[in-house]
Amino acid sequence: MTTAEQREAALKEAGYNTFLLRSRDVYIDLLTDSGTSAMSDRQWAGMMLGDEAYAGSENFYRLEANVRKYYGYTYLIPTHQGRGAEHIISRVLIRTGDVVPGNMYFTTTRLHQEMAGGRFVDVIIDEAHDPASEHPFKGNVDLDKLEKVLRENPGHVPYVSVAATVNMAGGQPISLANMRAVYELAKKYGSRVILDATRVAENAWFIQQREEGQSGKTVAEIVKALCSFSDGCTMSAKKDPLANIGGFLAVNEASVAAEAANLLVVYEGLHTYGGMAGRDMEAVAIGIEESVQDDHMRARIGQVQYLGDKLRAWGVPIVLPVGGHGIFLDARAFLPHVPQEHYPAQALAAALYLDSGVRAMERGIVSAGRDAVTGEERKPKLELVRLTIPRRVYTQAHMDVTAESVYCVYEEREKVRGLRMVFEPKLLRFFQARFEPLSD
Ligand code: F0G
Repeated sequence: MTTAEQREAALKEAGYNTFLLRSRDVYIDLLTDSGTSAMSDRQWAGMMLGDEAYAGSENFYRLEANVRKYYGYTYLIPTHQGRGAEHIISRVLIRTGDVVPGNMYFTTTRLHQEMAGGRFVDVIIDEAHDPASEHPFKGNVDLDKLEKVLRENPGHVPYVSVAATVNMAGGQPISLANMRAVYELAKKYGSRVILDATRVAENAWFIQQREEGQSGKTVAEIVKALCSFSDGCTMSAKKDPLANIGGFLAVNEASVAAEAANLLVVYEGLHTYGGMAGRDMEAVAIGIEESVQDDHMRARIGQVQYLGDKLRAWGVPIVLPVGGHGIFLDARAFLPHVPQEHYPAQALAAALYLDSGVRAMERGIVSAGRDAVTGEERKPKLELVRLTIPRRVYTQAHMDVTAESVYCVYEEREKVRGLRMVFEPKLLRFFQARFEPLSD
């Protein structure tokens, strides 16, 4: 715990960017669910079975077997984390001038697509950009928008980039029916679907709860069904698979796998470890099994829902419906007096930290960055602060403290001022940008 004076000093030192705070100055850390989950006793036991051979480690084959069993893909290309897989698949499949449609951008995913010469086009349904819409599957692809992109760019859409769930929309799921329709459309135009499977088990839970005809299936069955409507996936094993580090690319085409494995030895490591230690691959393999247990998912998303219900009952504007990995505060509705060019979500995350030491993350104009061609700031409709819940870490009491702090800031919201960016890194600026408060 810290005092208000300590937090004020820490925030100033961190340039009003929660990414630049030291963790010792944070009380409840809701920055991200990435690598911050608690590993289970089974995972820690697995760590003791690390086979640290340079080549052909036992743990690689365990991981490969579980990727085949739970997701159904043929070839495993291990990477140090999700963006390593994004880099490799983008380099293998995208050529200069290609177009990559997808259900809303993700920061690292889009950047790797752009750096490989591609242009990302958002084809998510309009409801995803409206925090108040209670559409049950706000992660769905608008099939008309997608078909237009496929029709207008023959031979230049190497794949459709589909995320389950959609992080930047608020952890919103795609339905199984929509996933199938996207796959069929991609095939009609000779393209592929690459799934961002980072939170696919959370997505499967929502399908079980909400989609007609799916309530009798297990999360594990739905995960496999979702993956079956894609040609491969990228995975950050730091989320769903409950590991502190790791990731992979998995594909069904032998030629794509061979090219990816070849690039892997340049950028990640040998094709049987790709940047992970043997013990890390074991933890991921076991985490995959645990992530698809219905009881685990009920507890995990139930906790997120608990926080959301509380804030909603108190009238705090949040993205609805509540998503899989966190609560997203609607900073536009929260701070209507702060214009987007004064970074309202960044300012709100800073104000929350100042109030209680709860660390959240900006997901708005700062995260969206600049257009790759024009250099103009992108102005997303969604201006959000993400309270991300690590898996198996916090108790309901922590959720209560968080909700109460958000409410305190809400009651005093007129006092929150906007910010000015004083240092802007060129790439993924949100991680390292620095700010100063605007004076009255
Ligand atoms: N895809 C999605 C949907 C993600 O949320 C992330 C990471 C990645 C890919 C990249 O994976 O971090 O292992 O390289 N999201 C984290 C977050 C950083 O806080 O949402 P990575």
